[in-house]
Amino acid sequence: MLKIVKNHIMQPLILILNGPNLNLLGTREPEIYGTLTLSDLHASCEKQAQALGLAVQCLQSNHEGQLVDWLHEYRQKAAGVIINPGALTHTSIALLDAIKAVDLPVIEVHLSNIAARESFRHHSYIAPAVKGTITGLGAEGYLFAMKALASLCKA
Ligand code: DQA
Repeated sequence: MLKIVKNHIMQPLILILNGPNLNLLGTREPEIYGTLTLSDLHASCEKQAQALGLAVQCLQSNHEGQLVDWLHEYRQKAAGVIINPGALTHTSIALLDAIKAVDLPVIEVHLSNIAARESFRHHSYIAPAVKGTITGLGAEGYLFAMKALASLCKA
């Protein structure tokens, strides 16, 4: 009797990193960041990943070094990265260097429109190293970023 072995196709893995204070989404300044919690956000990213045929790993840390370590750890496992570095956007040369070092397509996402806020939020250290930036579209920004990475992975 013929045994049919189904081919196992690996789905491209997208790493989603959220930085400091984003663990408090839902209660943190809801007039700016909305009422969706971080787990709600992760759940909608997982749903979007399924629809796009991607795998996803969602991680959050309040520590710069941890975010750098995750970028290093996933540099050969992930096909692309979505990062919202929180306030580290405006301070972190270490994250800029890590993004340059890992050689992966990275999309920067911000829930709020950083260009429309205080002037110290207008500058992003990581912006020159990312494929693109989505800012001000709330949680949907992550979903748009996943669509963009899905087409980049297929290209
Ligand atoms: C943020 C914007 C940053 O300026 C801020 O420090 C955050 C969140 C956003 O998603 O809008 O923590 O990255």
